[in-house]
Amino acid sequence: MTAHIFLRDQWYAAATAAEVTDKPLGRKICNEDIVMFRGRDGTVAVLEDRCPHRKAPLSLGRVIDGEIECPYHGLRFDGAGACTLVPSQRRIPRGLDAHRYPVIERYDLIFVWIGDAANADPALLPDWSPHTSPEWTTVHGYHYVRANYLLLIDNLLDLTHLAFVHRATLGASGPSDWLAQQQVWTEGETVRTRRVMRDVAPSGLVRATKRFVDGRIDRFQTSWFGLPSYVLVSLGAEAAGTRDDMELPHHIVPNNITPETETTTHYFWSVSRRYALGEADISTLFFNVTKAAFDEDAAMIEAQQRMIASDPRHEPLANLDGDAASVGARRLITRKLKLQATAAQAA
Ligand code: FES
Ligand SMILES: [Fe+2]
Repeated sequence: MTAHIFLRDQWYAAATAAEVTDKPLGRKICNEDIVMFRGRDGTVAVLEDRCPHRKAPLSLGRVIDGEIECPYHGLRFDGAGACTLVPSQRRIPRGLDAHRYPVIERYDLIFVWIGDAANADPALLPDWSPHTSPEWTTVHGYHYVRANYLLLIDNLLDLTHLAFVHRATLGASGPSDWLAQQQVWTEGETVRTRRVMRDVAPSGLVRATKRFVDGRIDRFQTSWFGLPSYVLVSLGAEAAGTRDDMELPHHIVPNNITPETETTTHYFWSVSRRYALGEADISTLFFNVTKAAFDEDAAMIEAQQRMIASDPRHEPLANLDGDAASVGARRLITRKLKLQATAAQAA
């Protein structure tokens, strides 16, 4: 068995639900080429994007009656991967099926199981239920980032970059007081952080929602990291001094960080908010501000990836206090990868 550099037996977000139609969509997830399409009843099918005949990419073909037709010699496969037609002969040879991937469409996303299909467990999906709850309004975005996925996890879990990378957009203040306020802890196979800021001015984004027009606020920000590479950022604010327990976020940012290859990443993000529901101008604002910030992150992360790749001495990365959460996340991933390698050897 070959060694894998990505965690297997995991759900990875592979597309937004809107992206998958009756036209084939080819994508690479964790170095595996897949094709996604909808069957006649709208169910999403995910097959290996490699025809079992001569390995032509099925994603270049078309969907006919809910089945995918290979663009080369016209073999057809149903959503389960079974070959249903060989145009050039009557007999369908045995074993000529396309490899099928377990898939779940939920929370307006398409999650694909990378690993042993027998182990696919829906309970392992991240809980992004606000995406489809009437109590929240969500905007979705996507960035293709030419960098290793771990650099995206680092970025989301280390807030000390805000004052530098996002100087122009988020206009965040300096990082000096932040670290003192930030707690980081590991809970099972998750890493969590929490930071509470009392009696501060509302940020531009909070002000734009018109919840706090004047006056100062207490605010909190929490992050949750879950395997293989999900990060949930939650933000809450209340009028200063009104609450001790600030648990309920006013908006959340679920991040699905899906490796494409070792040096490229599909990044599906969203912002769900609990107020100004359905207000299109607020949705546009949230989308634009978040996209602008992630554009800045992506530019920095891609530049960083180029420097890491060309480093003649292959020096390891250095860790500061602000990296505590990403160090925790990387530790969980490394431990799991080791277990995976040991199990693969034993198999
Ligand atoms: S390669 Fe697909 S039908 Fe021949
Ligand atoms: Fe950022």
